Amino acid sequence: MSRLDPTGVLREEHRWILNVARALERELDRASPGAPDPDQLERCVRFIRLFADACHHGKEEDQLFPVLEKHGLPRDSGPIAVMLAEHREGRRLAAAMREALPGVREAEPAAMKSFETAGRDYVALIRGHIGKEDGVLFQMADQIISAPACARLCESYEETCNSTFEGCTKAELEELGREILARA
Ligand SMILES: [Fe+2]
Repeated sequence: MSRLDPTGVLREEHRWILNVARALERELDRASPGAPDPDQLERCVRFIRLFADACHHGKEEDQLFPVLEKHGLPRDSGPIAVMLAEHREGRRLAAAMREALPGVREAEPAAMKSFETAGRDYVALIRGHIGKEDGVLFQMADQIISAPACARLCESYEETCNSTFEGCTKAELEELGREILARA
């Protein structure tokens, strides 16, 4: 894997996302019989929204997938359509977790249940999703995207990585990821 191939940066980000998903799962396992730490849950939701969705899925949807479409992969059927649908489902689950957080802080059982259901669904979804991308779509991308297109793609990834997500840089989000893992 190299940062200069069509999927290198994205595969690297997958490792971060899977590690944070495992940390979220661990925190949810603490829910019964005890209580999870709302601060850790909030950190995980923030990481999922800004790093996994805005920074990572943003690059896939706005940069990688359009290049694949130019190479003939349809957007409304096949692997790209499945990936887009899973991104939407991930957003829905992240929003459900975020919505439940105030109630979790108040130790409301219904809010904790909603958070836990959405959280566990998210962990299962993202594991399957990343497995499909790494094992199928990214393999296709690595084969069909040629060197000049690849260089342009890597430049556009870098531009996104150098932007901010609700005011946070990618480096700050990785720092947040490190904090989550250290507390898991
Ligand atoms: Fe991905």
